[in-house]
Amino acid sequence: MRSIPRLSGGEERMDRKTGSSFRIVFRHLLPELRPYIWAILFSLSITGLVISADLLQPLLFKQLLDAATLSMNYPVVIQCLLFLLGLVCVRSVLSYWEIFARSKVGESISAQLRRKTFEHVIHLPLPIFHEMEDSALVHRIMHDCGEVGRVYISSKLLPMIAQVIQVLALIGFLIALNWQVGLASLLVFPLGWLISRGVTHRSHAQVIRLRTLVERGHGMLQEIFSCIREVRAVGNEAGEMRRWDNWLQDYGRVISRTTTQHHFIRGTLSRLIDWIGLCVVFGWGGWQLLGHHMTVGTLLAMSLYVQQLYTTLSALLSGRLETIEVANALEAIQNILQRPREWPDQGQQALPAGDGHLEFEDISFSYQDTPTIKQVSFHSAPGQMTGIVGPTGSGKSTLMHLCLRFYPVAAGKILLDGQDIAEIAPHVLRQHIGLVSQDIQLWNTTIRENLLYGLQTEVPWERVIEVCQKTCVDAFVRHLPQEYETVVGSRGVKLSGGEKQRIALARALLRDPKILLLDEATSALDALTERAITNVLLQMGEKKNRLLVAHRLATVQSADQVIVIANGKIVEAGDPHSLYKQNGMYATLYHIQKLGEGVPPRS
Ligand SMILES: Nc1ncnc2c1ncn2[C@@H]1O[C@H](COP(=O)(O)OP(=O)(O)O)[C@@H](O)[C@H]1O
Ligand SMILES: [Mg+2]
Repeated sequence: MRSIPRLSGGEERMDRKTGSSFRIVFRHLLPELRPYIWAILFSLSITGLVISADLLQPLLFKQLLDAATLSMNYPVVIQCLLFLLGLVCVRSVLSYWEIFARSKVGESISAQLRRKTFEHVIHLPLPIFHEMEDSALVHRIMHDCGEVGRVYISSKLLPMIAQVIQVLALIGFLIALNWQVGLASLLVFPLGWLISRGVTHRSHAQVIRLRTLVERGHGMLQEIFSCIREVRAVGNEAGEMRRWDNWLQDYGRVISRTTTQHHFIRGTLSRLIDWIGLCVVFGWGGWQLLGHHMTVGTLLAMSLYVQQLYTTLSALLSGRLETIEVANALEAIQNILQRPREWPDQGQQALPAGDGHLEFEDISFSYQDTPTIKQVSFHSAPGQMTGIVGPTGSGKSTLMHLCLRFYPVAAGKILLDGQDIAEIAPHVLRQHIGLVSQDIQLWNTTIRENLLYGLQTEVPWERVIEVCQKTCVDAFVRHLPQEYETVVGSRGVKLSGGEKQRIALARALLRDPKILLLDEATSALDALTERAITNVLLQMGEKKNRLLVAHRLATVQSADQVIVIANGKIVEAGDPHSLYKQNGMYATLYHIQKLGEGVPPRS
């Protein structure tokens, strides 16, 4: 796989400058903005009208004052007042539509990004999910995508475009009214820019640190709540509280620094520049007023323009921090989007003709450097039941996962009806292989929905009940208050391990796959229920190819063949009876288990 930066965190982007942040934002955002170009133009044109109203207001005040002080023309004063009143009403209505249009664009872009990212993530290869924390992915989709659209587009970027135009217009008006005072009032701007640049520069690291911290906080909470039973069982509530307090302390420190800097630029700094600017206008303007080179109206209009100019400028400057933040968010999202999907659309879209003959040809595989599966070869035919036994960690589950192309094999081939599964599109392959995995995941919904999860075709309810009766699901579901409509809780927390296993088994059988992979699928069942289910698995034997990983040898007693795996290698293979006679590992396991069963109860 290509080397792509790590998905979580963002420390590597510490030294970014505002300029490069803008470039990143525009590079990544322009394609996202394209579909909304009309909505953006609509929003910007309303903003244009709002700005025009703001620009007109000081001119009306000027006219009003000049009419009152110079010519004492009261009808003009009344006209100006009425016009100002009308203007403020129109501006309020326009302003509502302006905010509405901007929010609409922002939310739409967030939704578009969230959709695109989720759609990509759900198709990423499994090893990527092992490599990164779930919370980092959740953070990307929920926080980062939201930040880009809602926070940035609607409250920063679109206003910024309008603000630049407004600033240029304001400068124009100031110079037009009195070029000397106008230019003098602009001299304050470089000072404000320099100060804000310094503050923003210092804030880079804070912004990145805050981002990493928030992500860590999410991850920690998610982990604690999902492991709440373990926390309770060992009584480590205080330990978790300490961990959380440490996080709160770190967060508090960073957030207070970042917020202070933020508000400093927004509030104190802009007020300072505002005041200096007003002093310049009133100082020099007052001087010109005394010399009759300026009217009272012009002085008032200029002071109003200067205030508008500095408010707009400080809003523009404060957008720098958000730009850095959004550039980081966009890069993190891009990091995910760059990752190649799971063998995208690669491979045949139909299974080869056959009943599900599976052949492992000298396959090897490793998760990291140490080999997990070493030159494993065996085959299992339709109608056969293959038992797979061996110590924990020997690679049994991995073998099951390789059949589903969760990971690509490093060497060798797995053939399905003579066709290398690496040449079959994964989603096609998986439709025909049913897996009941060791750690069963149920959705927090009803038993009925859990049973029907992912089914591509309609299954009549009678068929569902029939399968549930065979897999002993019906027996316990009938005792639940809402039967099949009972909600099972997060990850099936309201059910016992054995009940979950039975639902998972029924779910797999309902898919009617050619090949059934059962990874310790009956380990949590009592002996009687297990026997009943094993009988069902045996009965459906004429056509299906079944691979059964089991700890208890009794489970594989009736298998057609048993593969014994140790340390990723096949050490024995054959039918259970001949294996027993070989006096090897199978026989040893058999004796140990027999001995366990034979231990007399203590008196
Ligand atoms: N996602 C993974 N990343 C790295 N190593 C793994 C991963 N899953 C399993 N392993 C390792 O591979 C080996 C085989 O695991 P597994 O197939 O689950 O064994 P079994 O099912 O026989 O108990 C173990 O040593 C385990 O630690
Ligand atoms: Mg396992």
